[in-house]
This record gives sequence, C-alpha cells and structure tokens, in this order.
Amino acid sequence: MAIAKIGVVQFWPKLFEVEKNLRKALNLVKDFDGDFLIFPELSFTGYLFNSEKEIERVSRFNRMVERRWMEFSRDKKCTVIFGFPEKEKVNFFNSSMMIFPDGKKRIYRKTHLFFEEKKFFKPGNTGFFVEEFRGIKVGLAICFDWFFPESFRTLSLMGADLIAHSANLVMPYCQDSNVYASLQNRVYIATANRWGKDTNQGKELIFTGKSQITAPNGITLKKASERGDMLLEVEINTAFSKDKRINKFNDVFEDRKPKFYVNLFYKGKNGENGR
Ligand code: ACM
Repeated sequence: MAIAKIGVVQFWPKLFEVEKNLRKALNLVKDFDGDFLIFPELSFTGYLFNSEKEIERVSRFNRMVERRWMEFSRDKKCTVIFGFPEKEKVNFFNSSMMIFPDGKKRIYRKTHLFFEEKKFFKPGNTGFFVEEFRGIKVGLAICFDWFFPESFRTLSLMGADLIAHSANLVMPYCQDSNVYASLQNRVYIATANRWGKDTNQGKELIFTGKSQITAPNGITLKKASERGDMLLEVEINTAFSKDKRINKFNDVFEDRKPKFYVNLFYKGKNGENGR
C-alpha cells in the first residue's frame, strides 16, 4: 500500500505569454510539498492557435520550461506533469511531460485531438503507458481523451492508480463523466483544467475550470470553482485503487467479458483516420 499527496493546478495562462505564465505558475506552487504536481494541457502557452507558425513561436520556450520544472522536481523531490506543444522535426504534438526527481522524463502525445487541433497537431503516436513513483502507478491523458472510455480503461488495465489528466476543457460534460470513469475503473482521476478565455483573430474559447480529483469509489475529493488560479491538494491511497471489487461478488476487471465485446481494432465506417 502506498499513500501520496497530489497537487492539481488550475490556471489561466495568457495566450503566447510563456515566460510570464511560467513565473506565475512557479509562484502558485512555491510551497508545494507533495509527490505529484499536475498542470493543465498546454500549461504555459495558451491554447487557441491559428497557425503552425504561432505554435512554432511558443515552442521555442520548451527547453527553458523543461529546465525550470526539472530543477523544481529535483529540489522538491516531486514528480511534475505539464502540457506543452512538442515539436518533432516539422510536426507538432499536443503533449504532456512527466519529470521525475532523478531527471528521468516521459512524454505522452495526446491520442484524441479535439476540433481545430486537427489542423495543426498530429495525433499522438506514443500510446498510453504507466510509470511508477513511490509505489503509485501513474498514467497520463490529455483533455479530449476523456471522451473515449477506452483511454481511462486502458490506463486502468495497465495498472494505473492515478490518471493525471491535463485539460483545457470547453464542453461542460467531463467533470461529471470522470466521476463515473473513476468508479467504473476504480482509479483516481486528477483533472487539472484551465479557466478563463483565449481570444485570437476573432475567435474565442472559454474554458470551464472546475478542476477536480475523483476517487475509486466515485467520490469527488476536491473540486475547484469555475474561475480562479488555485492549487488543489489531496492524499491518495493505493489500497483503494488496487482493489477492483465492487462488492463480495463483483470485480470490475475480473467480471469483464472481453469475448462479447466488439473488436477494439474496429476502425469505424471511414476506417482509422478516415477523416
Ligand atoms: C480539448 O481537448 N482541449 C477540449
């Protein structure tokens, strides 16, 4: 059994103002003394891009941002997870980086792209994975991944105790849905969402805040308000996330009947990436 303290950061990064956003975030978490610190999707760049050129411009700060959180992770002896616009050759991915105190890092690339992200980012090719830190298995997911139950199910079947879900949510459904995703998978889900709005060249998006941590029994342990920068902190316990029993007779994993489920490689009517 392992117990850990996690911190979920709700934040309004101002579009394109990476250095200022980073300073603000560092100030918000300067007293954090827990084990996992989780930031929203595209944590320090803003979200509403209108061209690859704009993403290119903010991605030039990636190395500086990574260095700063590596120092933080080493000094505070905690694992830090944040979203960033990853550049690989000529392609961009909407990614999350997980940095461990010993300097090791892992990157997850968002599998399910939302709306106009499809114009500028490539769909993630890392797939889902879990890593262990202080006895806690943690898996990464990014925002719209929540809409596909396969995402959290896959991470849970891989043994995740905690899903670090970095988000820039614009629809109102995820926070409620994650209550049931936690329950159905007996897993902790920590959704670090942003709030506020991005405006760019006549377009506007408003983000929903209400960051939250849900527990394997479907209880919402902490929930932020719709507006405001804040740090939510909770303790999680693997005694609950490793126990997949619902009652004396039912177990969410043992009771699955995969032979009756549709082939997970079913590609839809247009084929994979048919659109
Ligand atoms: C989203 O995936 N950012 C809604």
